[in-house]
This record gives sequence, structure tokens and C-alpha cells, in this order.
Amino acid sequence: MTRKAGIIGHPVAHSLSPVFQAAAFAHCGLDVTYERWDTPAAQLAGRVSSLRETAVLGANVTVPHKEAVIPLLDELGGQSARMGAVNTIVNRDGRLFGFNTDGPGFVAALRNEASFEPAGKKVLLVGAGGAARGIAFALSEARAAEVAISNRTAGRAEAVAGEIGRPVSAVPWDSPVGGYDCVVNCTSVGMHGGPDPDGVPFEVASARPGCLVVDIVYAPEDTPLLRSAKAAGLVTLGGLPMLIYQGALAFEHWTGIPAPVDVMFQAARTELARRAGGAA
Ligand code: ATR
Repeated sequence: MTRKAGIIGHPVAHSLSPVFQAAAFAHCGLDVTYERWDTPAAQLAGRVSSLRETAVLGANVTVPHKEAVIPLLDELGGQSARMGAVNTIVNRDGRLFGFNTDGPGFVAALRNEASFEPAGKKVLLVGAGGAARGIAFALSEARAAEVAISNRTAGRAEAVAGEIGRPVSAVPWDSPVGGYDCVVNCTSVGMHGGPDPDGVPFEVASARPGCLVVDIVYAPEDTPLLRSAKAAGLVTLGGLPMLIYQGALAFEHWTGIPAPVDVMFQAARTELARRAGGAA
């Protein structure tokens, strides 16, 4: 029997998940299709209920439904209950299990693609939206020594810090980056089609030598921030690895087999290049 998985969100037309998940299933010889399930809020309960069908392996969940799906599920695993956000649903014999692989995917990307172990490190997150929140949870779980959050709207940084507690704290917007081992752009600054595609969210000039500069923006892969960090001789990591590793961890929840991460990267990069070429 062909099984299926998909991404639930609104909109989902530009999601890369169908591209790299389909490549992963095909590479592993699994008879699974991965669909785009565009789901307005009014249809969310029906959509989630349909995941209980035998043919469905599970789903990814994206904006704006990561919180709203929770009461529709049977059990929550990992940190998803504490986080109050689910991005992966697994159908096990009609019972729905929710997980969150966003933050763990970020930490896996740090470890596997930048050889950066967050335990004991000082990290600055710039931005305080959903992405920053998931990353802050995962870094605290990974025993970072300090996770500082700086946001243009200070109250949002304070809210995330207050919710998670130590080692997460809020620091002023435009705080100097010099005291950190790793600085992460969690804003949409630098994103193609975003509010400030040519901007940088912070100045890297004062970063300490060896500081890892991470951008969670993946389109373009080489953002203005990453370019300036490279020019300053700093180590960099782009946003695609976080996206791929959250997907790889979801794939492993659904299938129980190791995700073919290289295949997923290649499929995503091919699609991003196609889109950048104007063929989207
Ligand atoms: P996500 O869930 O992807 O994190 P979000 O919740 O919309 O998205 O958060 C976007 C983040 O980018 C916020 O931290 C936002 O700052 P505000 O809370 O002050 O709005 C930040 N952001 C967006 N545009 C920005 C800009 N031009 N300069 C600085 N920060 C910006």
C-alpha cells in the first residue's frame, strides 16, 4: 500500500519539505508520497483527524498551526508539551503523537554541520519569534551556559526568557555581540521577499575571533549577514541545515530509519537554485 505524509499549514505552496522529504522516501525505497495540505484554520480539526487513517504515516505542521494542533493530538513527545508547539505528527495505529523537531534540528545542524557543541557555550539569539523560541528551548536542553535574546520589540524577548527561565535571558536590542561563542539571526532580515532583504540584523565587527555566526534564513543561502561574517573571518552556518535536520528528525519519527541527510540537502539545493533562477 502506498502511504502518505504531508505538510499542514497555510500557506504551504512554497514549502521545501515536499521536495526533500519525497527525495528521502524515494532514496530509501519507501512507497510514500508527501503532499502539500494547505489548511485554513477552520479545516484544521478535520485535517488532523484524517491523519488517523491507516494510509497516513504522519505530517509536518507549519505556520500558523503549530500551537493549535496540540489539543487535537493524543500524546506529546520530547519537549513539545513544554514548548507548546508541534511541527511533527506521527500516526501510530490511529493514535496521533506530536513532536517538535525545530529546536533539536537546529542543535543537530550546529553539531553536524558546524562542529559546534552548545553545552557550556554562550549564545546570542537576535529575534524573538517562534523560531527563536524553539531554538532557545533546544539550547537550554543542550545545556548551553547562556542564551541571551535580543529583539527589536524588547517585550517579546522578555516574554520568551521569562517563559523558559535559566539559562535564557533578555538583553537590549543592538547589544554588542563580542561576549558570545555563537550569534544567531532569528529575524527575517536578509530573507528574499522579507521586510529587509538587503539588511543585516546585527553588526559582526565586534564578534570575537572564532565566533560562529548562524543565519536561520535559507533563501538566499548566502545572506548579507553571512557574507559580512565571512568577510570578517568568522565561522558561518546558513539556515538550510536547520530546515533539513528538522525534516530529518521528522523522517526518523515516521519511519524509524536514519534519514538520508545528504540526499535531502541535494534536493533542497536543487529546488532553491531552480527558484532563484526565476523558474519558481
Ligand atoms: P518566526 O516565527 O519565523 O520567528 P515571527 O514570529 O514573525 O517569525 O518573528 C519575526 C522576528 O523577526 C521578530 O523577532 C521580529 O522582531 P519584532 O518582534 O520586533 O517584530 C524580527 N524582525 C522582523 N523584521 C525585522 C526588522 N526589519 N528588523 C529587526 N527585526 C525584525
